[in-house]
Amino acid sequence: MLDRPVFARLRFVSAAIAVLFVLAGCTTDKVVFRDRPPFNPPADTANGFLGYFTASTKQTTCGNCHVGHQKQWSGAKHSSAFADLVNSGGAQSYCYTCHTVSDKGNAVVSPAGYDKAPDLAYHDVQCENCHGPGLAHVSAPDTPGNVPLAHIAILGPDSAASCAESTLPTPPLRGQPVTL
Ligand code: HEC
Ligand code: HEC
Ligand code: HEC
Repeated sequence: MLDRPVFARLRFVSAAIAVLFVLAGCTTDKVVFRDRPPFNPPADTANGFLGYFTASTKQTTCGNCHVGHQKQWSGAKHSSAFADLVNSGGAQSYCYTCHTVSDKGNAVVSPAGYDKAPDLAYHDVQCENCHGPGLAHVSAPDTPGNVPLAHIAILGPDSAASCAESTLPTPPLRGQPVTL
């Protein structure tokens, strides 16, 4: 025999199921695709670097739409660059610029991203390290002129060679899309 609390719970469950059936009867086939914007206001507004959408889960803003790239990237070392730096025990202030989203490695030429606004959203080497700032693109993704193609900046003897993936055979020319 059922004791009272269990029985009471069962009654509650069946009542809940009945409510669900009623609700199900009322639904239509309308699907809501989006209930929030796909990006947060950027910490470095001037340059439009977006960085993480949710830093705690390493969800990049770009990855909100480009889910395949997000998956691939999140399994790579770039996604742990900030923690690797901190855990190395040897971090100096100048180390951070390459282990965060910044002007290093792309076509932006003045201090930007983490170098301007040291926000959690800019931790790690993310999409925009290579693709450049994405604010214009995510604001109007269907405008072809806004698409952030990956560019590798060559600013001096150190920057491109040291910040680009070490597997690149020779640094491509600035302004040209490259294939890894
Ligand atoms: C709101 C959704 C959305 C977000 C967020 C977004 N994109 Fe896109 N992206 C698109 C759409 C839509 C296209 C156009 C796809 C097409 O025309 O096939 C596109 C195209 C691209 C392309 C060109 C692809 C090609 O094959 O030519 C690149 C590169 C790109 N996005 C990079 C990025 C980067 C980097 C970010 C983050 C800064 C980003 N995207 C964020 C929706 C988004
Ligand atoms: C000029 C850019 C740049 C600077 C400055 C820089 N790093 Fe790095 N760091 C890199 C690159 C590129 C990698 C390699 C990423 C890879 O292998 O995918 C890396 C990787 C690392 C790793 C990970 C190694 C591993 O395989 O786990 C550590 C730890 C690290 N750096 C520590 C530091 C420290 C400490 C400093 C400052 C003293 C520093 N970095 C400054 C670009 C830089
Ligand atoms: C280490 C540099 C680097 C990082 C990090 C990076 N990309 Fe790329 N990405 C490239 C390069 C290089 C290409 C090839 C560009 C070309 O061929 O024009 C590319 C191509 C693309 C394309 C277009 C081609 C395709 O295969 O669809 C999209 C979209 C894209 N990346 C999105 C992303 C997103 C989203 C992230 C982050 C989750 C990301 N990328 C991270 C360098 C990078």
